[in-house]
This record gives sequence, C-alpha cells and structure tokens, in this order.
Amino acid sequence: MHAAVIPAPDALPVYRDHPDPTERHGDDMVVEVLAAGLHHLTRSRANGSHYSGNGRFPLVPGVDGVVRDSAGNIRYVAVDDTSLGTFADRTLIDPRRSVILPDGIDPVQIAAAMNPAMSSWVALRRRIDFIPGRHVLVLGATGNAGRMAVQIAKLFGAARVVAAGRDCARLEALTALGADETITYDQIDRAADVDVVIDYVWGEPTARAMIPMLSARADRTAPLTWLQIGSIAGQTAPIPSAALRSARLQIVGSGIGSVPARDFLAELPALASAVAGGAIDVRARALPLAQVSHAWTAETDDRIVLVP
Ligand SMILES: NC(=O)c1ccc[n+]([C@@H]2O[C@H](COP(=O)([O-])OP(=O)(O)OC[C@H]3O[C@@H](n4cnc5c(N)ncnc54)[C@H](OP(=O)(O)O)[C@@H]3O)[C@@H](O)[C@H]2O)c1
Repeated sequence: MHAAVIPAPDALPVYRDHPDPTERHGDDMVVEVLAAGLHHLTRSRANGSHYSGNGRFPLVPGVDGVVRDSAGNIRYVAVDDTSLGTFADRTLIDPRRSVILPDGIDPVQIAAAMNPAMSSWVALRRRIDFIPGRHVLVLGATGNAGRMAVQIAKLFGAARVVAAGRDCARLEALTALGADETITYDQIDRAADVDVVIDYVWGEPTARAMIPMLSARADRTAPLTWLQIGSIAGQTAPIPSAALRSARLQIVGSGIGSVPARDFLAELPALASAVAGGAIDVRARALPLAQVSHAWTAETDDRIVLVP
C-alpha cells in the first residue's frame, strides 16, 4: 500500500510504499482510509512537541479519520498514540475508539471537522457544567477550532458569544456564524462580563487580556471559567497571582488526558450528527495523500484533508 512516512524527527512526510497492516489480536481491525485531517495535533505529535506523542520513527502520521471497515461500515476513528496513523491507504484501528457514521455522510467534511469541533464540544459538555443562557468569549475565534466554538456555544444555548481575534476581516465573517460581537485583543474589556472564556491562543495574548478583563468586570465575585484548550500563540503565559485572587476565576484545561477517552467517544455520535446535519459550518480542503509533503507546510485557512 501507499502511506505518508516521516523517516526521522523534523523530516517532512514522504509518500511511498509501506507494508500493509495486519491484525494482531481480536481488538485490531484493518480498515481502508477514506479521508484524514491534517490538524495541529497531527503535526505536533509527529514532531514530538505534543505531550501525547511517542517519539518513535519512522512514523505514519494521522491522528484520526474516516475509514471503511471490511463489513462496509463507515467509521470516524481517533487513533491512539501509534506509529501507523491514518495517512495511509489502510491502517489498523481499535474499533472501540470509533463510531459508525450514518449513511450519506461526506468523509472529507467529517475528517476536517471532528478534531477542531470536538475541542469546544467536549470542553463545554464534559469539563464544565455549561448552562444555556451563559455569555461566552472565544479567544482565537478565527481559526478552525475557534469558529466552530462560536457555533457550538450558540448550539448549546449561549445567550451571547463574543469572538476575539487579530484579523478584522476574518472576525467580521463570524457574525454570520452566530457571533454577537467581534473584538480584537485590545478591546477585550468589552467582554469583561462573560461567564466562560474558550481560549485557543494562550501565550502573550492571554496574559495581556486577563488582567484588563478581570479589572473591568462589573461583579468580580461572579464566577468566570477560563477553558484552556489551545496554545497557538505560546505554550506558557505568565498569569499574575492577583488574577486568581482578585476575581472568582477558575482555569480549566480540556484535551487528551484531562478528558478521558470514554468521554470523547461518548460525544462523537452527537457531534458527527451535528456536522453531517449542517449545524456546524466546516472549512475543508481535500488533497490527494500523494501531495502530503506539500500539504504538510501549506498555509491555508481551510482544514486540509488528505484523501488516499
Ligand atoms: N485541546 C484540544 O482538544 C484541541 C483540539 C483542537 C485544537 N486545539 C488547539 O487549538 C489551537 C487552534 O487550533 P485550530 O485548529 O483552530 O488552528 P487554526 O485553524 O490553524 O487557527 C489558528 C488561528 O490562531 C490565530 N493565531 C495564530 N497565531 C496567533 C498568535 N500568535 N496570536 C494570536 N492568534 C494567533 C490565527 O488567527 P488570526 O490570524 O485571524 O488571528 C489562526 O486563524 C491549536 O493550538 C490547536 O492545537 C486543541
């Protein structure tokens, strides 16, 4: 079969022949890959910068995807830390980490959407007790995960969603997706009274936003839950101790590890239905798997999906 293979740390993936997978025990299933998303997690696991990567090479990357099993079922699967990911004609999955998708779904849309959409879906459903009517601020709202977070917060009944980012043109487009207000990071005090922050940026923008936001809160004793989900602007953010004392601030992380695999799996069917039903707008761009080397470094707002 063909696969994308990363021969060594820091090397680009190469499209080449690769041995076919074989089932080793009862829990394994060889499946045909239909579509696999190129997410931040895909790259960071492959280059060893993600805490969930195993650092073994050669590596076939690909953390999830839409596959067809030998019975003809179409499944979405999130693979565990493995040297044989989904960037291949065929791969090996643990079916317990997959869900069977309804007939007629578009594999590319699902492969593009599930990783970025799951980030806010699971955080709001499984990491906090999100109650309809709450006010939400999304930091990093113009990225794939951020724009889905805007839509998912609305879907879950948020009364007001403020979308924050750097790029005014991209921000403007979020109004059509449900954002009640769009702001840049230097206008953060306008979102001071939200109940929940969904943070994809961290780093300097978060550190700079937090104190002005807390200082401008009308009622500092009102709970503010800061959901830490992504770190596109920096792995660390210097948070002054006063931030945690001067307001009723709670910082909660959400991702692999803090959310058990069974919780992710339990949410997959409902999220897949929401995507398949068009409740979440998806920006997907399909490319042949053979173009993986080019795709790996391509700069695009769309989520690239590789199709074997
Ligand atoms: N924990 C989880 O479950 C989970 C799941 C999915 C994703 N994530 C993480 O969430 C983050 C976003 O993922 P994504 O899929 O939305 O990525 P994406 O589609 O590539 O979007 C990233 C966005 O971040 C903004 N950005 C980039 N550099 C920035 C900087 N220095 N300061 C401020 N904003 C910056 C850009 O928006 P502008 O240029 O418009 O400002 C860009 O649109 C990543 O760190 C990813 O690893 C976490």
